[in-house]
Amino acid sequence: MTRKANSPWIYLLVPTLCLQPSLQAQEPSYALSTGKQDEVRLAILNELHNPSTLSKLNITPGVRVLTLGCGIGLLELEIAKQAGHHGYVLGTDVSAEQIFIAEQNCDVENLEFCQMDALHTDQVKGTFDRIHCRYVLTHLPWENIVTIIPLLYSKLTSGGFLLLEEISAIDSLFCEPPHPGYDLWKIVVSKQFALQKSDTSPGLRILHYLQEQKYRVLHTSYQPILRTKREKSILSLGILSASKKLLQEQLCTLKEIEETLELLYQLEQDTAYSPRYNEISQIIVLKP
Ligand SMILES: C[S@@+](CC[C@H](N)C(=O)[O-])C[C@H]1O[C@@H](n2cnc3c(N)ncnc32)[C@H](O)[C@@H]1O
Repeated sequence: MTRKANSPWIYLLVPTLCLQPSLQAQEPSYALSTGKQDEVRLAILNELHNPSTLSKLNITPGVRVLTLGCGIGLLELEIAKQAGHHGYVLGTDVSAEQIFIAEQNCDVENLEFCQMDALHTDQVKGTFDRIHCRYVLTHLPWENIVTIIPLLYSKLTSGGFLLLEEISAIDSLFCEPPHPGYDLWKIVVSKQFALQKSDTSPGLRILHYLQEQKYRVLHTSYQPILRTKREKSILSLGILSASKKLLQEQLCTLKEIEETLELLYQLEQDTAYSPRYNEISQIIVLKP
């Protein structure tokens, strides 16, 4: 059954979101929803990216791992299993709603979560063999990114590494063959980035900054194809997640959101289209 953009659930969702300010103290620049509102989208994001992330992290038994902007904690659970009883994982996120869900999702003894803005990473006790951050710096203004990176580096043990996984550049997005719903999705994404005051090439800019600052850096990138209906639904779920702030700030009209969703639901159903998701820059920063 096709979900219609003008079906009752968007009317339940969007106006409620528009009128109620979040109860949680939230990083002002973050344009997406948190908590239950974004849970399914983040679950799909983890399905798309965790295999590659875990292979880069190379978790061995006993390692200590810190993550920033952990979301709902699904990756942290996998890391904790691989790190074993002698390892330790601390997942952090600025949103109390995300931390609440992460704690419910993950009940293993070597994994803890705490609410923290990445700008306060210096307050975390101890050092870590791996520090991970995915789709977090992407959403922040540049001045925050260059403040956060040295803090993360200072929390690494000698021989440890940071893994930063951020969107290379939003103009790398494409669909084969082109689809009008995907084109509208890209327009909404660019408005979301404008609202966040974030860079449109965050991964590449971070890479160049690290190289200029003479950090020891390794870089790869990849761009997933969205194949199944569930994978493709990450596009419409992203619109729903960003719609609250885009409507509040009058960067989009409800009509534009509905039109985009309607076309994206058609794209989800149609196996002839292969939309790409974000190209991810995987940047490893080694600490000698
Ligand atoms: C797109 S989600 C990604 C979640 C997770 N890293 C993943 O890949 O599944 C971004 C997360 O970063 C968090 N976040 C946003 N700004 C932050 C900040 N300044 N410090 C820490 N977390 C932040 C959000 O609350 C959200 O949970």
